Amino acid sequence: MAITYYKRFRMEIDLDGSIQAPSLSFPFRWVSWDEGLLEQHAEVKYLSFREEIDSHVFPCLGDRHGCQRLMREIRRKPGFLPSATWLILGPVGFVGTIQGVMDRGPIGAIQNVGVAPEFRGQGLGSALVRKALEGFYTAGLRRAYLEVTAENVSAVLLYHAVGFRRSKTLYKAVDG
Ligand SMILES: CC(C)(COP(=O)(O)OP(=O)(O)OC[C@H]1O[C@@H](n2cnc3c(N)ncnc32)[C@H](O)[C@@H]1OP(=O)(O)O)[C@@H](O)C(=O)NCCC(=O)NCCS
Repeated sequence: MAITYYKRFRMEIDLDGSIQAPSLSFPFRWVSWDEGLLEQHAEVKYLSFREEIDSHVFPCLGDRHGCQRLMREIRRKPGFLPSATWLILGPVGFVGTIQGVMDRGPIGAIQNVGVAPEFRGQGLGSALVRKALEGFYTAGLRRAYLEVTAENVSAVLLYHAVGFRRSKTLYKAVDG
């Protein structure tokens, strides 16, 4: 079976408390983590990723059940951080999701950020990333990282605009 190698960047940022999440304009609003919202995070993740490059890199992101499984795994991680895990509620349901965990270091790790296609380009992705970074800082963390597929130019630009810088290039091998 053919193997495809996807180039990925690890990007990192120092946290000094200067990054603050914006308040959202009507009709959008922040919804903090609650155990009863796991399915909603999974659904927005699925809607955000299903047509995107990362659903090839991580096939579970292109599948509704895969996203539910992934959300349960993230929730079970010992460093799962409710303060860095947020939903954005839109006019007719949830439109954005982000999850954060504390990794060894300790360092904040952004898991997945997604905005449903109809709601992109309005600053919601950037707001989610800032909200998670604020949550890491509140939890006492002073550095954060994420990994992004190099082809995902809009995401790379977003992270760069927030202040992340590339620290490493990685290759992810995908079968088939
Ligand atoms: C990446 C993603 C979350 C961005 O969400 P968004 O709400 O459209 O992002 P924003 O409107 O907050 O954009 C923030 C910044 O990112 C950059 N950016 C975002 N989309 C861009 C695009 N298509 N082209 C160029 N720059 C872009 C810009 O710097 C922008 O700042 P600006 O509006 O001041 O120019 C969204 O496209 C998405 O959900 N993609 C699919 C899931 C995914 O790949 N997630 C990332 C995994 S690592």
